Amino acid sequence: MTAIAGLDVGTTGVKAIALSAEGEVLATASRGYPLATPRPGWAEQDPEDWWGAAEVALAEVSEGRDIAGIGLSGQMHGLVVLDSTDRVIRPAILWNDQRTAVECREIEERLGLDRLIGLTGNRALPGFTAPKLLWLRRHEPESYARIARVLLPKDYVRLRLTGERATDASDASGTLLLDVGRRAWSDDVLDALELPRAWLPPVLESPEPAGASGTVSHAIPVAAGAGDQPAAAVGVGVDRPGPLSVVLGTSGVVLAALPAYAHEPQARVHSFCHAVPEMWQAMGVMLSAAGSLQWFRDALAPAVPFEQLVAEAAAWPPGVDGLTFLPYLQGERTPHADPDARGAFVGLELRHDRGALVRAVLEGVAFGLRDSFDLVRLLGAAPTVARVSGGGARSRLWCQIVASVLGVPLERTESEEGSAFGAALLGGVAGGVFADVHDAVARCVRVSETIEPDPATQPLYEDLHHRYQALYPALAI
Ligand code: XUL
Repeated sequence: MTAIAGLDVGTTGVKAIALSAEGEVLATASRGYPLATPRPGWAEQDPEDWWGAAEVALAEVSEGRDIAGIGLSGQMHGLVVLDSTDRVIRPAILWNDQRTAVECREIEERLGLDRLIGLTGNRALPGFTAPKLLWLRRHEPESYARIARVLLPKDYVRLRLTGERATDASDASGTLLLDVGRRAWSDDVLDALELPRAWLPPVLESPEPAGASGTVSHAIPVAAGAGDQPAAAVGVGVDRPGPLSVVLGTSGVVLAALPAYAHEPQARVHSFCHAVPEMWQAMGVMLSAAGSLQWFRDALAPAVPFEQLVAEAAAWPPGVDGLTFLPYLQGERTPHADPDARGAFVGLELRHDRGALVRAVLEGVAFGLRDSFDLVRLLGAAPTVARVSGGGARSRLWCQIVASVLGVPLERTESEEGSAFGAALLGGVAGGVFADVHDAVARCVRVSETIEPDPATQPLYEDLHHRYQALYPALAI
């Protein structure tokens, strides 16, 4: 039986998956790795850890299977710098690293904000790749001087897997170096930032083959793949304008497919290429979604299972009797492009217990997603339903809260594997199993459950969302 494989290079670990050509999950494997925070606001990883974990997880799901194609997805925006022998020069600087506020201002000054937004669909945000290169130039000139190649996380894993240097248009969109409308590197941006084009790999479309893995007698095509969020959107069937993709992962994402390049005038949401050729997407990203719940557990309830925490939260009514959580634990991106934003619990009373705090976290993340949803709609997307994935989607209560706060039904799909599932579908197109991404989605993505918004709590959540929005400026002191 023909199988396809997907590999997601995430922030906490890799996830590999093998699927049948009908989208049934045949095997999954995961391997974790550490995240270093050597200074406040910094986030780094060793690319060797990604490769070590990827090699083992891919071998595990491929064992004994006839794999027709492999697809890669990964955490976006991370900077991997290589010397002329393809050796890693320093640890990768990740998407949630906040060290580059000064360089972001420099980029917006060099290009002019409107020109930058017109070309790249985005403002200069600290997590993006280009400001990290300028940071290296200023703070680690000896490392900068050795750079011969620049890659994104999943593309470093591709290099190790296939020996090939390549990226795809969706992941390249998150570098701030891509002309997003033309789906090609922007000479205007590269020239303005004095960055050599020769450092960058070729940009392909996500389902195109970009390298092969294995022996010459049985080389398995590896798809160019996608950033984890566009891959997750494909994985839940958001391959064309219609449903919204909502991800409750470490980060929280609201993504709508767009038929043409469009950007919000102030770029409060990202405009990126989609993982589907000739398709774009608008995306809002919260930096700490399920990451907020993870933080809560690590800090206040170590070793308590998430299920128990969520059960305690369910005992509290919507609105938690006036308790609100702001999820800006690592700064924020959408809607506040503010690396200095910070989290808060507001409205604490003596009677609030651990369950109350957890419910406030779940609701605060939902309000943050609502901010992104409202912005994505400004670009013409009009979704009437959302498809949810990511670790947080396993909680029915959280899905129910998100459905009520967004005011649209939330659909769960048969597979909750999100990015890895989408990556596998792209691998299937590269391997000739599917005609194109739409064919892959039609054959493999099935809705398993719909969670309707609760009409009784919607008006309350509307009011609480306004209160939530008022708290960020009120607390920015
Ligand atoms: C997307 C983003 C995150 C990372 C990590 O813009 O920054 O979702 O891709 O998952």
